[in-house]
Amino acid sequence: MTKKRIYIFDTTLRDGEQSPGVSLNIQDKLEIARELVKMRVDIIEVGFPIASVGDFEAVKAVAQNIKGAVIAGLARANEKDIDRAWEAVQYSDAPRIHTFIATSDIHLQYKLKMNREQVLARAVEAVAYAKKFTSDIEFSAEDASRSDTAFLYKVYEAVIAAGAKTINVSDTVGYTTPREFGNLIRGIRENVPNIDQAVISVHCHNDLGMGVANSLAALENGAQQLECTMNGLGERAGNAALEELVMAILTRQDYYNAYTNINTQQIYRTSRIVSALTGVNVQPNKAIVGANAFAHESGIHQHGVLNNSSTYEIMKPETIGLQTNKLVLGKHSGRHAFEDHLKELGHNLSADEINVLFTKFKALADKKKVVFDRDIEALLDEKVAVAPEIYELIYYHISSGNQTIATGTVRLKYGEKIIEAACTGDGPVDACFKAIEQALGLKVELEDYFLKAVTSGEDALGEVTVKINKNGKSYIGRGLSTDIIEASAKAFVNAINKVVAEVGEDTSELSEVTSTP
Ligand code: KIV
Ligand code: ZN
Repeated sequence: MTKKRIYIFDTTLRDGEQSPGVSLNIQDKLEIARELVKMRVDIIEVGFPIASVGDFEAVKAVAQNIKGAVIAGLARANEKDIDRAWEAVQYSDAPRIHTFIATSDIHLQYKLKMNREQVLARAVEAVAYAKKFTSDIEFSAEDASRSDTAFLYKVYEAVIAAGAKTINVSDTVGYTTPREFGNLIRGIRENVPNIDQAVISVHCHNDLGMGVANSLAALENGAQQLECTMNGLGERAGNAALEELVMAILTRQDYYNAYTNINTQQIYRTSRIVSALTGVNVQPNKAIVGANAFAHESGIHQHGVLNNSSTYEIMKPETIGLQTNKLVLGKHSGRHAFEDHLKELGHNLSADEINVLFTKFKALADKKKVVFDRDIEALLDEKVAVAPEIYELIYYHISSGNQTIATGTVRLKYGEKIIEAACTGDGPVDACFKAIEQALGLKVELEDYFLKAVTSGEDALGEVTVKINKNGKSYIGRGLSTDIIEASAKAFVNAINKVVAEVGEDTSELSEVTSTP
């Protein structure tokens, strides 16, 4: 029996961005979209253009610059939303308008204040209106899993007749269960007369932890497009995770008899980039991309894996592009060897990018006895998280102890000026952050701080992610160093540079820079 092709619709940039505390700017969305194309997703939903000018510009920029995938923009079922979505996606070689309206009685009564006939008419009007712009129209029934099935069939039949090429079945609140959802998809296949003219898509949230299971049950019953996000980001508990769906379909092809077009070797890297740019860390025991996903702790397991990896490993780490802790290069390695190795890892960088990375690698090799592929990946991630270096940390000194008040002194470069300040704080990191704020004359709120070791060992690279808030907006900063205070200070300055870059070149509003000899 021929295998069924499954389309992967990634909504990391739209539903994923709706995760609490996540905010992606245009550059972030472009960077992630580039990785999604490398990973060969079929459709990228970039945003909700009517929602804000920023989101509109981001969707437009991705449509203009990123080729190789369908680019979708979300719109409620009304002309204004659809106009705005089209204005943004029209630049793509393959634009899609994704329009939606809720179909459950709960949503009709309490949110839309419309009756079923009105919703049906609105859905058809929206699809017919979108058809003026493109033939690639997706219609979503929001809260489909809690809708009356007879009404749902009627809506899907009508929107397909009006021109929808994909009909999406949303489990908006993550309420359904695998068997129930599978039955719903089968019901749609059997009761919507013109269903052969559309692709059945599903969009499952993870409130009960069943987003992936529900999506796979839908696949078994005829769904051909799966909507998902990297690392399972999304509203509340998130959406079905792309990496879990793709690896389940690949690993259990004997069972699902299906395949995707995803280049699985890009999964780990894309996951890291999404984590770096959203500031949402991946839990260690997360399937596929968590730090422990391929770690074997118990002696019995280690013994089995050493004899034959299939004893306890159902997937190979290399399949998702995860480099095992290979010793690669040392401090005597030359630029050519470094460049060759980057290519082996699948990174084709410009000469300038390689120069910057090589300098960082040398500095790291000086401090660290052994440099692993994962250290190099971390340096690459730092490149992703770069903000314009408006302020550069050039010196810091911290004194702290259990019987003394922590004091931090920092010196930063701002153009030709050197600015510095010293402050006390509640521990060394706090003292350092306060000194940086004082030097810049800028106050921000620290919302989150996260430290993790990139590899094992006493001299492991520490990776710090901070989230700061300025004027109600969150900014993510990342820093890497074998010294955790330096990694923290770099992450803090990285986030502050993003604040200053957004406010504009005129930093006078933010900083009272004092020149010191
Ligand atoms: O969860 C949902 O129903 C959605 C739709 C807009 C597809 O995100
Ligand atoms: Zn959703």
